[in-house]
Amino acid sequence: MVSYREIQASNELISDANAPRVAVFVGGTSGIGQLTVKALVNTGVSIRIYLVGRKSSEERIQTLIDELQAINPQAEVIWTEGEISLLSETKRICEVIKAKESRVDLLFLTAGYIPFGERKETTEGLETVQSLEYYSRMLFTTLLFPLLGLSENPRVVSVLSGGLERVTSINLDDLDLKKPGNFGGVAAQGQYGTMNSIYLDKLATNHTDITFIHSWPGAVNTGSVRRGFGPNSIMVWVIRLLLEPLLALVSYSDNESAQRHLFQSTSAAFGGRGIPWKGKPGVNSREQETTGLFLVNHKCDCTPNTRVIPVLREKAQTKVWDHTQEVLRPYL
Ligand SMILES: NC(=O)c1ccc[n+]([C@@H]2O[C@H](COP(=O)([O-])OP(=O)(O)OC[C@H]3O[C@@H](n4cnc5c(N)ncnc54)[C@H](OP(=O)(O)O)[C@@H]3O)[C@@H](O)[C@H]2O)c1
Repeated sequence: MVSYREIQASNELISDANAPRVAVFVGGTSGIGQLTVKALVNTGVSIRIYLVGRKSSEERIQTLIDELQAINPQAEVIWTEGEISLLSETKRICEVIKAKESRVDLLFLTAGYIPFGERKETTEGLETVQSLEYYSRMLFTTLLFPLLGLSENPRVVSVLSGGLERVTSINLDDLDLKKPGNFGGVAAQGQYGTMNSIYLDKLATNHTDITFIHSWPGAVNTGSVRRGFGPNSIMVWVIRLLLEPLLALVSYSDNESAQRHLFQSTSAAFGGRGIPWKGKPGVNSREQETTGLFLVNHKCDCTPNTRVIPVLREKAQTKVWDHTQEVLRPYL
């Protein structure tokens, strides 16, 4: 087990010599993504961060960017506006970044929420949260491969539910949960999380130079639980008044969550490259200590889920891969 003290000690070693120089945060406008951006900037390193998010958050984010630049003038935080639930916009944003950068060291993906409430589709016909938590994340990863490939220590971190896969948590007959009765908050989170792991596992076999992490953050009181309900829904108040005070008792503090995700973004514990790690090396989804896909839980332990992943690899991977390729093809 990795202790929090070890995590803090590792993060204290982050310097210009080993930190990511160019990072892309998709979902860094709130929650775990924003906490991690702040922690990274607070290390004082020279870094360029593309903070990608939707128009409605732009004004609020400008204040944050001003604060971050004041804390660390060596950090350049570039607001990159785009409607990230749309794959056409994902492609456009990647083109903007590709036109400016010759490499990307860290891609950090956190957009999404639990889709309690009604099923809502984007104008591209995808369920909004499936697009945010799965399709758009896989498209960002794929389109930025050419820049990640030019980094010395490229890393992709997708924050959702790594290690929580179950053979029964994926509906292979209805991958987009479109059929009546198949969609719901819990079913959707299981489906999108499992699809993340299966697809990233395959990408990792094709891109052995990259460290992939699918992280399960545990409980962090970011307000994510209530996002699925409309702003005027009574459920928002029920969650605020009843559930969130309870969640706060079992949640990681903002700072600890930030430090844990900073560790996952920089430590050599995952694949051997990054901030030197003297503890037990993490094992990937193929139970190896080399690069690959690391399923990392809220304690920052690798949980390769050895009873489930091989079964999913055999029974589900081809179907998920082919279906995802079909959805992403127009944007590749
Ligand atoms: N927090 C937890 O306890 C927890 C536990 C397990 C898994 N997770 C998962 O981990 C991921 C990160 O969680 P979090 O707590 O950091 O989430 P969060 O605070 O709710 O923030 C997620 C990000 O998603 C963006 N987003 C939400 N809806 C959007 C939409 N319709 N269009 C575009 N962007 C949208 C937000 O943008 P704006 O800032 O513009 O709103 C924000 O940048 C999520 O997928 C969540 O489901 C969280």
